Amino acid sequence: MIETVSTTPYGDQKPGTSGLRKKVKVFQQPHYAENFIQSVFEVVEGREGATLIIGGDGRYLNREVIDKAIRMAAANGFGRVIVGRGGILSTPAASHLIRSREAIGGLILSASHNPGGPNEDFGIKYNVANGGPAPEKVTDAILERTRAIDSYRIADAEAVDIDAIGETEIAGMTVEVVDPVAAYADLMQSLFDFTAIRGAGLTMAFDAMSAVTGPYATEILERRLGFEQGTVRNGTPLEDFGGHHPDPNLVHARTLYDLMMSADAPDFGAASDGDGDRNLIIGRDIFITPSDSLAMLAANAHLAPAYADGLRGIARSMPTSAAADRVAAALNIPLFETPTGWKFFGNLLDAGMVTICGEESAGTGSDHVREKDGLWAVLLWLNILAATGKSVKQIAEEHWARFGRNYYARHDYEGVDSAAAEALVDGLRDRLADLPGQEIAGLRIEAADEFAYVDPTDGSISRQQGLRVLFEGGSRVVFRLSGTGTSGATLRVYLERYEPVGGRLDQDTGEMLADIARAADEIAGITRHTGRARPDVIT
Ligand code: G6P
Ligand code: ZN
Repeated sequence: MIETVSTTPYGDQKPGTSGLRKKVKVFQQPHYAENFIQSVFEVVEGREGATLIIGGDGRYLNREVIDKAIRMAAANGFGRVIVGRGGILSTPAASHLIRSREAIGGLILSASHNPGGPNEDFGIKYNVANGGPAPEKVTDAILERTRAIDSYRIADAEAVDIDAIGETEIAGMTVEVVDPVAAYADLMQSLFDFTAIRGAGLTMAFDAMSAVTGPYATEILERRLGFEQGTVRNGTPLEDFGGHHPDPNLVHARTLYDLMMSADAPDFGAASDGDGDRNLIIGRDIFITPSDSLAMLAANAHLAPAYADGLRGIARSMPTSAAADRVAAALNIPLFETPTGWKFFGNLLDAGMVTICGEESAGTGSDHVREKDGLWAVLLWLNILAATGKSVKQIAEEHWARFGRNYYARHDYEGVDSAAAEALVDGLRDRLADLPGQEIAGLRIEAADEFAYVDPTDGSISRQQGLRVLFEGGSRVVFRLSGTGTSGATLRVYLERYEPVGGRLDQDTGEMLADIARAADEIAGITRHTGRARPDVIT
């Protein structure tokens, strides 16, 4: 029996950088999740009889929303829903299933690296048939529906048992519960030289941060690659991630960092986030910034079977450092600079214009799926270590000696009053034209602009994607407001300084960026607008 339930619109369902992300309490309002899911379904053309993938990172509310989504999919004409057992699917595994099962799209339930639990965050993201996040024209159409919605459809049926693998029928639709790990693990095995990694005698520590990658990492690292038991830490997904932020950075993965800096450090340390798409890479005694990781992976990717024929191109988000640009130039392949958000890579990957993509926000991935992929990055690093016999530190130092080094850090000011953050950005936007030629904190400004992107595959334009100030000598600062926060505004300030080959390549990042940080404050009036003397998080 299909029920049509009357509802009224909520005014706050605009998808952000990565889907609709809100506090759990917001999602618990009557019909809130249903309104959004119905709005998504209505923009999916050709859904009649089609296959839909559903899964999430296991956080609080995951099961409840999956139950609703399955019954709503049945009422909206889908022919089949494929759901990960227990409602679990990492974001890259969901992307892979959409592609390999030729689904029309997928609902991924996650708030990524944000904390989970009754007082924390939840999210719903829609991915399209290529496996990637819905592009802006789709999210805009969803937003329009959320503003006009007056009813949604749902099957009046018992909840499907999502803990048992197999098929059931509900209101004429088939629900298929699958092993969330197997297909993804097989894909990884097809890309990398598991035999070489197994035989290399490496040791590692992987922190799954009590989030979704636990079962994936245990299967791949411990079972298939033979790393010793206990290599995967915090490997059981918990609804509240054990009360932590499942964000693989130096603040929230401090335990791993401390281990890697200690005398007991294994050869390789890595972590992933809530939904398994981000990565943190730490070698013995060395942290690799995500921007550097992208560049180093691109420079060495040919050592892994899937990339042995070379790369077609590299893409990075604008705030990501230019380290990858130098690799692209050396490989004589194109480099694309996109706005923040993985969705912008999808068209380039589909068009075969790039093979590898990455972002400063700890995302790296390739054309094997249409999401960033935490374990993929870990396995490519392992493959490179196994093929070269070198340590992470050697790889990094040799890379800098060859290409020069882009010292890089991101300063985040979290929970800033939204109006104050807007005022900072608007004020700076108005002054951009006056900046070139000025000298601030001893640095001479060469150029300043607001980044806009024209997608080379379809000509679509995305404006207001970050304010950039370039200094003489290749250093720069970028200002942007985060599109993924759930309370107030987060101001992101991205600092970068290039040291050429033969320059000072082994210095402390904080010291090398100190004058740029001072200039950033002076240029934008960070302290004046936010009342903060220093950032909350430095990554
Ligand atoms: C998510 C997206 C990324 C993006 C990151 C930071 O993880 O998938 O593509 O880089 O958020 O976005 P933000 O708008 O918070 O800087
Ligand atoms: Zn994530």
